[in-house]
Amino acid sequence: SSPASHASRINKKTASRGAEGSGGAGKAAALFPLRRSICPSGLPDAIGLPDAIGLPDVKKFTESWILKMNKAKRTAVIAGNWKMNMTPSEAKKTVADTAALVAGKDGAKIILCVPFVDIASAQCGAEGSAISIGAQNVHFAEKGAFTGEISASMLKECGVEYVIIGHSERRQYFAETDETVNKRTKAALAAGLKVILCVGEVLEQRQSGITEEILSMQTKLDLAGLTADDLKNVIIAYEPVWAIGTGLTATPEQADEACGIIRSVVAGLYGGAAAEGLTIQYGGSMNEKNAAELLAKENVDGGLIGGASLVPEKFAAIVDAAQA
Ligand code: 13P
Repeated sequence: SSPASHASRINKKTASRGAEGSGGAGKAAALFPLRRSICPSGLPDAIGLPDAIGLPDVKKFTESWILKMNKAKRTAVIAGNWKMNMTPSEAKKTVADTAALVAGKDGAKIILCVPFVDIASAQCGAEGSAISIGAQNVHFAEKGAFTGEISASMLKECGVEYVIIGHSERRQYFAETDETVNKRTKAALAAGLKVILCVGEVLEQRQSGITEEILSMQTKLDLAGLTADDLKNVIIAYEPVWAIGTGLTATPEQADEACGIIRSVVAGLYGGAAAEGLTIQYGGSMNEKNAAELLAKENVDGGLIGGASLVPEKFAAIVDAAQA
């Protein structure tokens, strides 16, 4: 369904339940708790999660030492995901305008992930600035008969540093699975690219109270086979699908809790040092108004921004919010 109809579904649900409070974020918190309350001892059979995944005891990690992990050890990363927007000439101008506004703001790493055909012109616009131009997808094969696809070595030679992998729009509209996300991630890392790996639950999963399980499963499957060294070149973006393009942002507490779950899963897989060093972004209707509150949270190390990254003033304001 389109983002608009998705949003209207959310609004209908909100209205029919007669939620208290007036703010959209407050309603989200009231209606969609992260943890299930009805079936605490296991997943409903209908969900069909494979037993073999062996989910780590995330609560144990979350409640013990994970909360003491030092946010100050991580640099904020503010990344724009332009999605399918901007022609090459528009890209050059928008990046140049953004570069002028973020000049000297070195408290955050700044990335703009643009359509493949915009990479060269965006790099021209970024010249002399600290903005790194990234891509939005990559194929897992080195080369071959994959009409319309782009390989990791092609991106590398174009000077791309970061590539987004596993965005929910790829999962939803282009049949991306955790298996292909994992393969793309491995191919990107092998070519020397850095990865922004997206995970996040859909609305129905949050309403069913299985967000924790979904995040654990995606994180584990998407990172399968990666070493702790590989992980140094991976950023994880927590993007609740219900918050993308809907104007319905996760509350700072929801974002922090979900990012903390992901960090605890990584701690279970790779140990505390790897988890402490991992940059975890929040994405989903982040804008110049809500960014500061979200970015202040212990487990939120940056943002992956869609709509607001297309407007230099808005994106620069988010970069400002990350300077603290
Ligand atoms: P919006 O910021 O437009 O909600 O998009 C978020 C996103 O999908 C970033 O990858």
